[in-house]
Amino acid sequence: MNNNVRPADMKRINTPELAEAFIKEQVKEVREQVGDKKVLLALSGGVDSSVVAALLIKAIGKQLVCVHVNHGLMRKGESEQVIEVFRNQLDANLIYVDATDRFLGLLAGVDEPERKRKIIGGEFIKVFDEEARKLEGIDFLAQGTIYPDILESDGVKAHHNVGGLPEDMQFELVEPVRLLFKDEVRVVGKTLGLPESMVERQPFPGPGLGVRCLGAITRDRLETLRESDAILREEFAAAGLADKVWQFFTVVPDMRATGVRDGKRAYDWPVIIRAVNTVDAMTATVPEIDWSVLKKVTERILHEVSGVCRVLYDLSPKPTATIEWE
Ligand code: XMP
Repeated sequence: MNNNVRPADMKRINTPELAEAFIKEQVKEVREQVGDKKVLLALSGGVDSSVVAALLIKAIGKQLVCVHVNHGLMRKGESEQVIEVFRNQLDANLIYVDATDRFLGLLAGVDEPERKRKIIGGEFIKVFDEEARKLEGIDFLAQGTIYPDILESDGVKAHHNVGGLPEDMQFELVEPVRLLFKDEVRVVGKTLGLPESMVERQPFPGPGLGVRCLGAITRDRLETLRESDAILREEFAAAGLADKVWQFFTVVPDMRATGVRDGKRAYDWPVIIRAVNTVDAMTATVPEIDWSVLKKVTERILHEVSGVCRVLYDLSPKPTATIEWE
């Protein structure tokens, strides 16, 4: 039997009871597969890798070694949440690598979007590879491959995401959620006790804020982006929009605009709000957000984030625009 094909009679996991049964079965399978050996996992903090981590911690505890690489392009509070949940609450074996300076150094002056993506993806593999080589006695590599990855890209979780197998390293794969769809992974995650904010996270591109800080990334614009994005997320959550809008974020272009500050002309950054609804990300529409919410977000960004003089709302559907700006 090909164990990468979802059996026709497999139930959709949509209740805590079904999730419990799935977890029990996977814990048993993983223990049988791994024995007393060690397993390595690149833990980004995204839904899939987080659920795999929680599942494997339940199955094999400290035999799982998680590596979280902070490329400096995470949203506000994300790496901190990974450390809090996995190291502090679940007592995981977690290696945290702050590689911000490495990534930003390599990206300095690079303004071509695909080149930026390549640098971020390539460096991610390099950092992960370096960490893996420091460890002894690892035989297995866990991955958060889910069923759409298998259906869409020959089982390689590489479509868009950074990360992947170090090429010359021979690991056997552990992929406990490979037959699940995204909504099922979320139910399993919740049943495992992961926080709602981690399990219900909206999609976040592998290159992170790198493709939202347009053109050549600078630290000041990256900070403007991170702070404005955090405000947008806070206000959308407060307005009950967090689970109604599919994806929302801010973008900071590499172009200044004039404004007035303290009675003087200032040359500052605009911040663009992007919010979309979609089923499969192939096409997308722009939701009609309450004016009062947009005004509140605008006021907060203008007053709380330094160096911003304007806030814009992107009204473009996909097509003609893409969801991301780069
Ligand atoms: P676009 O901009 O192509 O985005 O309309 C469609 C969906 O894909 C996400 N996206 C990415 N995800 N790496 C990723 O992991 C990427 O390089 C990347 N580019 C776009 C985007 O956030 C949206 O959900």
